[in-house]
Amino acid sequence: MIAPASRPVAARRHLLGMAGLSPQDITAFLDLAEAEVAVSRQTEKKKSVLKGRTQINLFFEASTRTQASFELAGKRLGADVMNMSVASSSVKKGETLIDTAMTLNAMQPDILIVRHHSAGAVALLAQKVACSVVNAGDGAHEHPTQALLDALTIRRRKGRIARLIVTICGDVLHSRVARSNIILLNALGAEVRVVAPSTLLPSGIEQMGVKVFRRMDEGLQGADVVMMLRLQRERMAGSFVPSVREYFRYFGLDKAKLALAKPDALVMHPGPMNRGVEIASDIADGPASVIEEQVEMGVAVRMAVIESLLGDGLEAGA
Ligand code: NCD
Repeated sequence: MIAPASRPVAARRHLLGMAGLSPQDITAFLDLAEAEVAVSRQTEKKKSVLKGRTQINLFFEASTRTQASFELAGKRLGADVMNMSVASSSVKKGETLIDTAMTLNAMQPDILIVRHHSAGAVALLAQKVACSVVNAGDGAHEHPTQALLDALTIRRRKGRIARLIVTICGDVLHSRVARSNIILLNALGAEVRVVAPSTLLPSGIEQMGVKVFRRMDEGLQGADVVMMLRLQRERMAGSFVPSVREYFRYFGLDKAKLALAKPDALVMHPGPMNRGVEIASDIADGPASVIEEQVEMGVAVRMAVIESLLGDGLEAGA
């Protein structure tokens, strides 16, 4: 177990992104998450550290796995967890984000887990409420717990993050997962590459400290980890790729392309997957894939984050 004194980011009240976290903060989150993995593997999966605390999941964007993961994480820590479904809320009646936040704030929650379709919305909300806030994905900006769960998965398989070659492929333009991962992986000393067609690369991406490739065969060469991203068609206003078949041919991960990476390379995907679009089915289900492990690590990482923000660190000075 991790001693309370070494709990991550003791004086921190929110987790809004990977930006601004030190390598020590990140490592401390991962170390605590490691202990939480063991909790979820026990028959009795419930701790009582957060007994009596209230967690509200406020999701303005559809989500299955992330919301379920945060819900289980809160429950396994002993908190009372409420899910606010935006489809049935006053937001549909025109209430603003801040009004919704203030209403929930008045119910005295201890932590809000927020997903929103606009970049920056979660940080804005965090300024208005009295409790802790975790960003569960804001637009194309950040998704910090996804980056932490990916790092935990990699570290457990490879024993380290430093000096690994991690290739992130696909729709980087619309991906908060890519942004948070790039920041985290750079902080921990990995070599980060991105591969995408020009239309799906944000301009100036090089300034985030990545090597940019426009061809899979170049970007995958010698990679230790291949991270595939979903083609986020719901965020595309026009036509970013000629056709899904064409996209798969050039940017979809299949056996031949994966063979260019290291023989023991890991294949990752944050989900939900488009089989046959960004990843071939046999690769998604094959021996290199750690996609299900990522889901398991997601619960552990979210337990670690919630426990850190609400645990004894909070009394210590947040
Ligand atoms: C990701 C997201 O929502 O940003 N998914 C997730 O959190 N499970 C990636 C995606 O939607 O493609």
